[in-house]
Amino acid sequence: MRTYLLKVPTYKPGKPVEELQRELGLKKVSKLASNENPFPPAPKVVKAISHAAKRVNRYPEGSVFYLRERLSNMLGLDPGQLVFGNGSDELIFFAVRSLVGPGDEVLTATPTFLMYKIAAMVEGIRIREIPMKDFRYDLMAIRAAITDHTKLIFIANPNNPTGSYVTKDELDCFMNNLPEHVVVFFDEAYYEFAREKEDYPDILRSVNSGRQVLVARTFSKYYGLAGLRIGYAFGRKDLIDLMARVREPFNVNLIAQEAALAALDSEAYYEKIFKIVSKEKMILERELSRLGMEFIPSVTNFVLIHIGPQSQELVDWLLHQGVIVRHMKAWGLPEYIRVTIGKPEENKWFLRLLKKWLKENGR
Ligand SMILES: Cc1ncc(COP(=O)(O)O)c(C=O)c1O
Repeated sequence: MRTYLLKVPTYKPGKPVEELQRELGLKKVSKLASNENPFPPAPKVVKAISHAAKRVNRYPEGSVFYLRERLSNMLGLDPGQLVFGNGSDELIFFAVRSLVGPGDEVLTATPTFLMYKIAAMVEGIRIREIPMKDFRYDLMAIRAAITDHTKLIFIANPNNPTGSYVTKDELDCFMNNLPEHVVVFFDEAYYEFAREKEDYPDILRSVNSGRQVLVARTFSKYYGLAGLRIGYAFGRKDLIDLMARVREPFNVNLIAQEAALAALDSEAYYEKIFKIVSKEKMILERELSRLGMEFIPSVTNFVLIHIGPQSQELVDWLLHQGVIVRHMKAWGLPEYIRVTIGKPEENKWFLRLLKKWLKENGR
């Protein structure tokens, strides 16, 4: 038995919202804990899903043919430079499984997305986590930590849970003369929220110049298809080819493929949501500043907030009122919470409750 698996931290999902509502006798619940899009999918997407439902007696398109064509045209890449996953989570596993061997190691930062550590540990691969500096990836420290055994580096850009991002200059400097034996996996799950920033890196340029780079993106966040599980990675063809070899033949379901295509046809709808989320985030950050609370300025759809030693009490109290936020203890940040931007009324509710709690706790 692979008893080392007993050391793998297990992801603890919360109870189903309906269950919680029943248990605590709550009239309504707002889930602001998983960085999801709070709005339903675009009408065209819902239509595509219901059409696709009638065809699920058949296996899905194993090569993800139409979406592959569509994305390769959009990105100006060869179709063979793309691989699809059951969510981008699965692509993280593919990368570790296909690119890192026994005795090799993976590097990442801390605090970052926990799946890098989980994937490495499940595969029995050593992972080293380099502390962030001011809640940002310290790329120079990561560069300095590279050894002959380092085969893969995970960089979440923008990062979860900090909401910060690596700039174009930082990335160029990091990639310059990077040893050939190291592959860099840029996890751009929140790319669509950050792409308009002037100094946000154009990662396609690195891919097109033949660098040892992989990029993962997802339909879960901006496009609101978290429940369908679909993400994709692109990069150098030989690396993508290796990743695709550990893929199970029908890993991306039929409904997800159709929904993703329809989502790409609904840009105006998602642009509207993006504007709402951006405005709501600005309001939240402004109110937090007014309250004198420390938070990390975010380019994503969530904000990391410093609460202090009573953070768990706040999370529990909010839960009993019906607002679910994420406590950051598992990320080594026991004094912090992460709050996803919800619908305007949900964000107002959160702020109202936060103010009440601060007042009741003499702060
Ligand atoms: C940085 C990052 N990468 C990947 C994912 C996983 O997304 P998916 O739903 O595509 O598996 C998340 C989800 O929270 C994330 O925050």
